Amino acid sequence: MMFSTFASKTLLPVALASFAAALSGTSNTNPPSYVSGEVLKLQAIQAHFKNAGIVPDGLPSFDPKAELVANYAGESCSTSPGQSLTRAQVASAPTFTVTPGSGSLSGTYTLAMVDFGPVGSDQSKGVTRHWLVNGLTITNSAFSNTSAVAITQYAGPAPPAGSGPHRYAFLLWEQPSTFTAPAAFSQPNMGVSTFDVNAYATDAKLGAVIAGNYITVEEGTATATPSPTAAVETSTLPAASVPTISIRASATPLGSGNGAHALSAQGAGTYGLLALGAIVFTVFA
Ligand SMILES: *[C@@H]1O[C@H](CO)[C@@H](O)[C@H](O)[C@H]1NC(C)=O
Repeated sequence: MMFSTFASKTLLPVALASFAAALSGTSNTNPPSYVSGEVLKLQAIQAHFKNAGIVPDGLPSFDPKAELVANYAGESCSTSPGQSLTRAQVASAPTFTVTPGSGSLSGTYTLAMVDFGPVGSDQSKGVTRHWLVNGLTITNSAFSNTSAVAITQYAGPAPPAGSGPHRYAFLLWEQPSTFTAPAAFSQPNMGVSTFDVNAYATDAKLGAVIAGNYITVEEGTATATPSPTAAVETSTLPAASVPTISIRASATPLGSGNGAHALSAQGAGTYGLLALGAIVFTVFA
């Protein structure tokens, strides 16, 4: 699957807004001359979490330091943020690819999968815990679970029929060196149940989520009208992303200015910007 409909629908306006801002020269007069592709991906996934309402409804904030991509065996490639999958496709646990924005991931980590429900659903009674594993380590961008403890083993999504597309989020935290599982979640093989994921993170002294991603799974046809998603916060994808696109699209850097400079240096013309999925941009004349 090349890209999800969701990604193309939500990110294109964001990218175009940033692009327009850069072209009009109304903002971003001093952009960084280079933003790494990995940082750009993290900004995109951060925007997805906000646009899908996961932030702030389910998580108070989300400032990812690493990219977390789920790879379901039934999918021909990695899942993209918000990708809609069937229950059959997600019946078995995915594997993950974890890539830091910078530095390395040498600690010990907790991974959870929780059901934030359909957009607009009440989060005050907690979320369904579909997976909770402590003690993961990361080797060559993959999780190693040789010293991990599965508090709750992976249980594939099973949203009630007609309840709309549920947002299943994968969340990763770094554990403190003194990590001790909270008493209520210290024994392996607890069943799927509702819990307060943010209170869990606090009790386990995990700090902020360092990486996340999400998929949607829907059973049957929604009988309720889904709540509209919040307007995209363009601030989460700053215009500073544009020079990355322009500079990376060129064989040689065209200067340290913003996207408008780089494009006008290439010659006059009408330009379009195409967003492919969350992360790949192509500028064409
Ligand atoms: C470790 O991974 C294997 C293979 O995915 C899985 O069968 C096993 O349950 C996992 N163990 C823990 C503790 O998560």
